[in-house]
Amino acid sequence: MKNIILTGFMGCGKTSVGIRLSYRVRRTMTDTDRKIERLYRMSVSEIFEKMGEEAFRDMETHCLEKLLDEPQGQIIAVGGGLPIRSRNRELLKRLGWVVYLRVKPETICSRLATDTTRPLLQGEDREEKVRALMSARGSFYESAADIMIDVDGKTVDEIVDEIVGNIEGGDGNYETIGD
Ligand code: S3P
Repeated sequence: MKNIILTGFMGCGKTSVGIRLSYRVRRTMTDTDRKIERLYRMSVSEIFEKMGEEAFRDMETHCLEKLLDEPQGQIIAVGGGLPIRSRNRELLKRLGWVVYLRVKPETICSRLATDTTRPLLQGEDREEKVRALMSARGSFYESAADIMIDVDGKTVDEIVDEIVGNIEGGDGNYETIGD
């Protein structure tokens, strides 16, 4: 049984979709940011501040490598910048079935207008930062993905329905995904 990995830009809904999906398909859910925070006993913001972005990116790669040794069949939400490294995209493919939750910049700007937890979006011109990062990353998300779902204007349940519909591939069998 394969893992289901949720990717996409910050604020696209990976965590809420992942939690709901994990109930629906009765699988455990994990999250690379939370795993890194637990391991290093620091928040993502503190890691960026004290150790820098590159160190955080190395931690993400290490986290994926460790996930390969864990039991399969999990729902895994990954940080928004993780698919940017080619090594990470390779690891994602090996880890399971990759779902890209695609979102418009307007949706993210309104959702994250007052967010203080994403170091890359702090300071002036948040909207500009969102647009620039999104346009730089779009092709990486796409090339890492097995399926892509447009999430704007959809409820968490509707998104989960789409994922489950794709997973089941018409035969209702979650265990066959990605085969
Ligand atoms: C990042 C996304 C964040 C977190 C870090 C960097 C990014 O995760 O990993 O702040 O580069 O897009 P979420 O996508 O869960 O917000």
